[in-house]
Amino acid sequence: MHPQRRKPSRSWLIFVSLAAWGLFLVSCVTVERAVVAPTQIAGATYVGTKQCAQCHEEKSAHFASSSHARLALKDDKGRDIGCEACHGPGSLHVKAGGGKGTIVNPQKSPETCFQCHLDKRGQFSLPNSHQVLNGKMSCGDCHNVHEGNAIKGSGADLESQNDTCTKCHTEQKGPFVYEHGAMREGCTSCHNPHGTVNQKMLVARDANLCLRCHLEAPDPGVTGQINANAIHHTAENHNSRLMQGTCWSAGCHEAPHGSNASFHFRY
Ligand code: HEC
Ligand code: HEC
Ligand code: HEC
Ligand code: HEC
Ligand code: HEC
Ligand code: HEC
Ligand code: HEC
Repeated sequence: MHPQRRKPSRSWLIFVSLAAWGLFLVSCVTVERAVVAPTQIAGATYVGTKQCAQCHEEKSAHFASSSHARLALKDDKGRDIGCEACHGPGSLHVKAGGGKGTIVNPQKSPETCFQCHLDKRGQFSLPNSHQVLNGKMSCGDCHNVHEGNAIKGSGADLESQNDTCTKCHTEQKGPFVYEHGAMREGCTSCHNPHGTVNQKMLVARDANLCLRCHLEAPDPGVTGQINANAIHHTAENHNSRLMQGTCWSAGCHEAPHGSNASFHFRY
């Protein structure tokens, strides 16, 4: 039988592919990530990306343009194993004619991603993060890994990165009568969607969040400075307010995403 004939070489094959992965991991990613092993499926071996394309035309069609295809991973036979880098070796899946349960589906678990992106496990373990570790959300909810840049809207068009977020967070979508210029720089100018130690996944927990952009004109009333345009309070006013909370929680700019009521981002 065909599989029988191949048996003697299987452990050798696995050894070589592991060695190749080891080389890849050492050469492409940081030392911290080098300790990880590639995705395993008991008893399965690599078949190559071409095989997958036969049945998964839609996922394969533009894969060459993706960030991960540029990694150009190969097995010992020189076959491109780009798909199997995330989905695990596909021989059992192909032999079964496809179907569920014979191959890794990262929509159900991020483990396959953590093999190379170990730092992300740490970020998603922080107290404020999206629920990816428990499987309620997936990396694939925000990243399209099968085509082009895996970070939607990175580069020139930031609108579409916000679209990734506002398909779930409709309240922040706007349009607002009074738009906040910060939104043009993307949600990630204030939030780290992978997780942070701060409430609401904010990248800073106090006035520093706002002062990173509002720096132009000195205003000793705030713990730093504030945008000339934003000086609508006296310094004294800012000072007493900030003792009660921070810019968005002291009863001032409670609507940091934009407001329909006030130019000063209040409700
Ligand atoms: C960087 C990791 C990665 C690579 C490389 C990758 N995929 Fe995926 N794949 C995912 C993720 C994440 C999902 C779930 C989210 C989604 O559907 O986009 C997925 C889902 C799928 C699904 C099915 C999902 C369903 O539920 O219907 C198929 C089929 C698939 N991939 C095929 C492929 C093929 C074929 C290739 C190579 C051309 C490939 N993948 C390369 C990560 C990857
Ligand atoms: C002979 C056809 C065939 C080949 C070859 C094939 N698949 Fe599939 N695959 C299928 C079918 C059919 C399904 C089930 C689709 C469904 O139920 O929605 C499937 C499902 C999947 C799923 C979802 C599994 C799950 O549990 O949710 C992934 C991921 C996947 N294939 C990836 C791949 C990858 C990667 C390759 C190449 C190594 C590959 N497939 C090769 C036919 C194939
Ligand atoms: C085999 C190792 C490996 C696996 C598995 C892997 N990645 Fe990556 N990924 C990389 C490397 C290396 C880069 C950097 C590529 C570059 O800079 O061009 C990268 C880049 C990325 C980027 C930034 C891409 C961009 O277009 O700028 C995202 C997002 C990403 N990976 C998400 C994922 C997700 C989600 C998964 C799991 C579904 C995953 N990766 C699985 C190695 C991997
Ligand atoms: C809630 C949406 C969301 C989820 C879920 C998500 N990401 Fe991201 N990710 C982003 C955004 C947005 C960026 C771009 C960040 C920026 O531009 O500052 C990004 C950037 C990245 C990058 C490249 C920059 C970096 O930080 O290294 C990698 C790699 C990455 N994500 C991997 C992952 C992996 C792996 C998962 C799942 C374990 C995941 N992401 C889940 C939204 C998400
Ligand atoms: C697939 C849907 C989905 C996408 C896409 C998504 N989120 Fe979320 N987000 C959620 C859910 C669900 C929660 C609530 C999580 C919880 O209760 O732990 C949440 C929570 C948050 C919170 C914290 C709210 C709180 O009350 O603590 C922030 C901030 C946030 N998301 C920002 C973002 C940003 C920024 C993006 C885009 C990069 C994004 N989200 C993309 C579903 C999503
Ligand atoms: C200028 C900084 C800034 C930008 C840009 C920003 N946010 Fe926020 N976001 C905040 C602050 C500050 C809070 C906390 C508000 C609070 O606690 O009342 C917050 C809270 C949230 C919450 C929780 C809301 C709640 O009611 O608990 C979500 C969800 C959220 N942001 C999503 C987004 C999305 C999606 C984007 C991009 C479309 C975005 N944010 C852009 C500053 C920002
Ligand atoms: C990523 C940069 C960025 C961040 C972070 C940021 N802003 Fe802004 N903010 C802007 C821009 C750009 C404008 C528009 C300025 C203009 O039109 O001159 C603006 C305008 C404002 C205005 C309207 C008054 C004015 O100057 O036009 C207020 C009030 C304001 N921001 C408050 C905040 C608060 C509160 C925070 C923190 C939660 C914050 N901003 C964080 C970029 C930012």
